[in-house]
Amino acid sequence: MSLHARRGVLFIFLLILPFFIGLFCTYEVVKIRFPTDMENSPAVNYLDGPRILPPKGAVSTNGKSITIDSFPENPIPVDETSIKRGELLYALHCALCHGETGKGDGSLVEFYTERPPGDLTVSHVAAQFDGVLFRTISFGFGQMPPLAENLTTHERWDVINYLRSLQ
Ligand code: HEC
Repeated sequence: MSLHARRGVLFIFLLILPFFIGLFCTYEVVKIRFPTDMENSPAVNYLDGPRILPPKGAVSTNGKSITIDSFPENPIPVDETSIKRGELLYALHCALCHGETGKGDGSLVEFYTERPPGDLTVSHVAAQFDGVLFRTISFGFGQMPPLAENLTTHERWDVINYLRSLQ
């Protein structure tokens, strides 16, 4: 091979070398770890473990959550603010079944053939402890759906405080 030809081959080789290096990197034949901000994040991915659990005895900002067999006491004082909030929340979450004034005449009543949403102003509901009402709202009752997902703990107590003002 003449000197010229050799130079030519070397030139072409040098010319396409970066291309092959690029290919090797692309197909991870040569692995280079590029530091990216995402990779270095301390975040825990969905389903990654171990999760950091809240410390024992920690109370959520929504107040204590309850289980089906606990019987909570109403921690929210009955004042104007709470009742006002309760009124708005009741109109949004309860009125369609129990009626605007709690008389059990909401617009969905016609769909309940067996046990319709009750009148919430009657004496046997008025006689129930706040904790019982709280459980009814949280876990549902018979045909009534559980509303724990729709209302925070605080909001449920507000609704109960409002209900008391109706009774
Ligand atoms: C989708 C309709 C629906 C919604 C919304 C609903 N309820 Fe009910 N509720 C019912 C039905 C139906 C019953 C009767 C269940 C049964 O007897 O099986 C009931 C029963 C109750 C009872 C028990 C009454 C009794 O006689 O002991 C209370 C208390 C109550 N609801 C409060 C509420 C409150 C407060 C809200 C809003 C946060 C609410 N409900 C939202 C349908 C509903």
